[in-house]
Amino acid sequence: MILLLTPEESFVPFLQGLVGDTVEISRKWDPAWRDAQPIEVVQSTVVPVPDVVIVGPTVPESVALEWAGAFDREHPEIGRLIIAPATPDLLMGAMRLGVREVVPPNASGDQIREAVDRLLGAAARLRSAMPSNETASVSTNRVISVLSAKGGSGKTVVATNLALGLNEVAPGGVVLVDLDIQFGDCGSTMNLEPEQTLTDAALNASVLDATTLKVFLTPHPSGLFLLGPPQSLVDAAEVTSQQVKAILDLLVGIFEYVVIDTSSGIDDHAITAMEFSTDLVLLSSSEVPSVRAMSRHVETLDTIGMTRQERHFVVNRAGTRVGLRTSDIEQTVGLQACVEIPSSRQVVMSTNQGAPIIHSAPKDPAARAMQELVDRFVPEQAEDSRAKRGWKGKR
Ligand SMILES: Nc1ncnc2c1ncn2[C@@H]1O[C@H](COP(=O)(O)OP(=O)(O)O)[C@@H](O)[C@H]1O
Ligand SMILES: [Mg+2]
Repeated sequence: MILLLTPEESFVPFLQGLVGDTVEISRKWDPAWRDAQPIEVVQSTVVPVPDVVIVGPTVPESVALEWAGAFDREHPEIGRLIIAPATPDLLMGAMRLGVREVVPPNASGDQIREAVDRLLGAAARLRSAMPSNETASVSTNRVISVLSAKGGSGKTVVATNLALGLNEVAPGGVVLVDLDIQFGDCGSTMNLEPEQTLTDAALNASVLDATTLKVFLTPHPSGLFLLGPPQSLVDAAEVTSQQVKAILDLLVGIFEYVVIDTSSGIDDHAITAMEFSTDLVLLSSSEVPSVRAMSRHVETLDTIGMTRQERHFVVNRAGTRVGLRTSDIEQTVGLQACVEIPSSRQVVMSTNQGAPIIHSAPKDPAARAMQELVDRFVPEQAEDSRAKRGWKGKR
């Protein structure tokens, strides 16, 4: 369906003649929009959600750009076409907003039809790649970065299990991004060998869109998608923060959950990941160096202003006789632990076998703790529907 925002009633039969009778066109216009915020225009026109929105003709170019920007933020999956004189300002603004189609009002019918066809084609391809509506309705988008100050804290184990657990709730709606740029091992932890990696996506970042980005993802049999890490340190060095930003920007528009595994400490890519994140999973094991380092890590997050995200402090390998008590860890770090993952041989075995514990040994106490973490990100509605489907993950 095409949503047409223009005061020009006569444009409807003209456009219908170009695209054919099988494509529904819905024209909407309200003079009150002149004083409305762009987001209000989006909200009042976007039900039902169209495949393509066309702004113009005879909508001022600055207004058309503002609306296209608001559609981009609220519904990046909708293709956008602006019909307005192609001034340099309009073209620059359109490029910045990723509006790929701009045609002048005096364009030929063929030019307009071709632009609309391209957008409808892209919308159809994206729809087939998108998670189903059922899953789309159960949660709001979350971007979750898994971080720790020290290596070996269990980031990769937690990120892979978290992503797989969330994928049970939103099948096909979850992507795991391995941003441990030099030594990423999410693939082997899940028995996947990505043919395309972050480097391949990054080198194409400037021309990627939501549809083409899918080519670089590796599907896990569960329906989870992985964006695999560079295959060598040389490949890793080619990836810039700008490219990672462009990729995350697209992924956030496509997937309900983006889970990001990081390397230890706070490098450029971790900062990029955090900038996109709604949630931070902060991991520490229960040994003194790890706890002290996490305390400094949290202090640094405060110092650099990374305070907007919800923090979830997780103590890994908790409760061992030789480890610190959780209450002491909490006091040192200054955060309350929301989940404690016990030390478990099953975790090591599952890592070595490439079969994450949440699937391979769901009854293991460590798997139950992982599930507890997953549940923190699941809205109640989804938990209900999961319970109705008889899903066994819940204790
Ligand atoms: N709760 C746990 N019990 C036992 N072993 C664990 C646990 N958490 C992690 N491990 C093991 O510790 C190692 C490091 O974990 P990993 O997730 O790779 O850490 P990171 O990504 O933070 O460097 C892996 O071999 C993993 O199997
Ligand atoms: Mg790791």
